[in-house]
Amino acid sequence: MSPKASFCLAVFAVLLVSSLGLEDPELEQCKHQCKVQQKFDEKQRKECVRGCEEYSRQKQERERGGSYGEEDRDRNPESPIERLRECMEGCDTQHGQERERCQSSCKQGYEREREKYQGRQEMEEGEGKQQYEENPYVFKDRHFVTGLRTQHGRLRILQKFTDRSKKLYRGIENYRLAIYEADPLTFVVPNYFDAEALIFVAKGKGTVSLVTKDRRESFNIKEGDILRIKAGTTAYLINRDQNERLVLAKLLQPVSTPGNFEAFFGVGGENPESFYSVFSNEILEAAFNVRRDRIEKLFGQQRQGAILKVSREQIQRMSQHEEGGIWPFGGGESKSTYNIYEQHPTHANQYGQLYEVDSSHFRSLHDLDVAVALTNITRGAMTALYYNSRATKICTVIDGAGYYEMACPHISQSQNHHEGSRWREGEWPGSRRESGGNPTYQKISSRLEHGTVVVVPAGHPFVAVASTNQNLQLICFLVHANDNEKHALTGKRNVINRLEREAKELSFGVPEREVDAVFRSQEEEFFSKGPRQQQRGFSDM
Ligand SMILES: *[C@@H]1O[C@H](CO)[C@@H](O)[C@H](O)[C@H]1NC(C)=O
Repeated sequence: MSPKASFCLAVFAVLLVSSLGLEDPELEQCKHQCKVQQKFDEKQRKECVRGCEEYSRQKQERERGGSYGEEDRDRNPESPIERLRECMEGCDTQHGQERERCQSSCKQGYEREREKYQGRQEMEEGEGKQQYEENPYVFKDRHFVTGLRTQHGRLRILQKFTDRSKKLYRGIENYRLAIYEADPLTFVVPNYFDAEALIFVAKGKGTVSLVTKDRRESFNIKEGDILRIKAGTTAYLINRDQNERLVLAKLLQPVSTPGNFEAFFGVGGENPESFYSVFSNEILEAAFNVRRDRIEKLFGQQRQGAILKVSREQIQRMSQHEEGGIWPFGGGESKSTYNIYEQHPTHANQYGQLYEVDSSHFRSLHDLDVAVALTNITRGAMTALYYNSRATKICTVIDGAGYYEMACPHISQSQNHHEGSRWREGEWPGSRRESGGNPTYQKISSRLEHGTVVVVPAGHPFVAVASTNQNLQLICFLVHANDNEKHALTGKRNVINRLEREAKELSFGVPEREVDAVFRSQEEEFFSKGPRQQQRGFSDM
């Protein structure tokens, strides 16, 4: 966040505290804050003061009964000021001293949080392009919860997207990401989920068995395979390699409760617990038609958890199947897996390769409205700047390191300008007037390393760069992928190059050749030299 923006937050905080009646007189104080800011030049001070006056005017209007409009529309629920607001609202139900105590504890909490919040922001400014804490589009290890775990493997599930931000992630609320990792020669006992699952094999070799209503299919899977497991299908899995771990990236789409799903184990005993064992004995006796002691014995043995170590011989007997097997019965049904390397990369040169699989290649992707992309960026190189027309990308780093940058719009509330809506944190008082209601943008960026998850919403311009000493490999699930198009903003086939002369000249206010000098200079189409490599020589010099 720029110094301007973080200062804006401070002024805003003062105003809000004032408007809640904690302090007095708000306008003077706001103006005072503007004047004592050393980071400001004269022009910025004036704008700041104007912002204070505007705010004060709107506040008076509100107090006279004006409308709040959509003031809540763009709140950031994580900001200290929003927490304060909620906390203070909570105090309204109390009276007298109780209420004062409540309010003062809100204020103390707010001061503590604000210090932390600002400290974080200063740290980020110091770190230049890396915004670790405040970037809501990046998820790290701590944002995962463990779904299953034994000493031989684990399933880690990313927090619900809407738990991170309701506002940003409503569109992908019903998708969840999970990462499964298992040791060599291991077995996951049969289970099913109340969710559709799409699986990408990031590393290793396995065998999957699926039990549907009247058949069982087993097939071998290897790196690059994509497979679909329908909700409620009982599945089990082995890592059949003797040395290599098996790593799967899963995209889940819950079928009953949006954003939530569960695993169901019928087999097992104490660990995993079997759902059979919750039914009453007389029901089980009658249903199985055996005596209860035999039932109790069967469901009392397993204690090793859902992921087990198995012998090489057991593995061999369970993995004699075709690679990427064909559905054995399913009149004209498509293949059960698709390997991402089966087709030519969409883009490939010495700087990287992009492989994409959508429903035109693998029909099972269609009803999920999902596509899969694998990006392999050569060390030191980068992708073009580009955006997706409809799809929101959920990417995870499977190998290497690097960083990314993304342009994030902050759309001004032009239509509410006169309705008493406050400016928001991060928005400069007076900027609305200057930009005439047009969006402004903020740079969002983060380091990418093994396990980092990044979300790139539709329309947001994005670029990824590999570190100078390792390739960067990203596996991405594209949600809302049907009819999605990828639009390049730099590189040989960028959008701007397709404009006609007049449109270019009118848009940039310079002759076409000056536009072309910039937009036609890059000869590579998608992957190109990265910033470090580029410094050694530009093509127009
Ligand atoms: C990634 O690119 C490197 C070349 O930089 C290549 O050797 C490697 O095989 C590629 N990996 C994949 C998975 O395509």
